[in-house]
Amino acid sequence: MKILGISGSLRADSHNTKLLRAAAELLPGEVEFEQWSDLKAVPPYDEDDDVQPGPAAVEKLRAAIAEADAVLFATPEYNASIPGVLKNALDWVSRPPKSSPLRNKPVAVVGASTGAFGAVWSQAELRKVLATIGARVLDVDVAVGHADTQFDADGHLVDEQLHEQLGEVVAALVGEAAQIPVELAATA
Ligand SMILES: Cc1cc2nc3c(=O)[nH]c(=O)nc-3n(C[C@H](O)[C@H](O)[C@H](O)COP(=O)(O)O)c2cc1C
Repeated sequence: MKILGISGSLRADSHNTKLLRAAAELLPGEVEFEQWSDLKAVPPYDEDDDVQPGPAAVEKLRAAIAEADAVLFATPEYNASIPGVLKNALDWVSRPPKSSPLRNKPVAVVGASTGAFGAVWSQAELRKVLATIGARVLDVDVAVGHADTQFDADGHLVDEQLHEQLGEVVAALVGEAAQIPVELAATA
């Protein structure tokens, strides 16, 4: 089984990318984790450019999602919403709707922000977008507020409750993915 992690932040020291790494450490040993790090290469969505095959960075992302059994998103909140780069990539991946690799794909959303609420608005919007695309969005969440104080030097969450919640998200995602063979998820 393979889980793809997509961070909505491009920042080298991103709290959301750290959150994905912390999640990866909680996966059972037999589960492979791939951290997506090429969001910046995805061009601005332009329907005139949305032909087959699409831009190389888009095709790479489509393939990575298709090959994964499930996707874990960690998103910051920018002005109470999803970062533009992440929404842009999802707009590409959503088309054409019937063959989007996100259709029926088990996905979960977590988030971190330096504000008090842990990107809850952005997370909610991201779940809405993913559901619109047709992904199987799990009803789980982790909201890491004051994220600049929540990771130790090794990138581990210092708050035991958040650590446990992240473990529950990971377990739920693995459980859901185990029920849906990846080839069925792509065609269902
Ligand atoms: C353009 C911009 C808008 C932001 N808007 C919000 C916001 O609405 N709510 C919030 O909690 N934090 C907001 N922040 C702060 C981010 O939560 C903080 O920069 C966070 O660390 C970004 O995630 P990252 O560490 O994964 O890059 C904003 C930051 C930026 C750069």
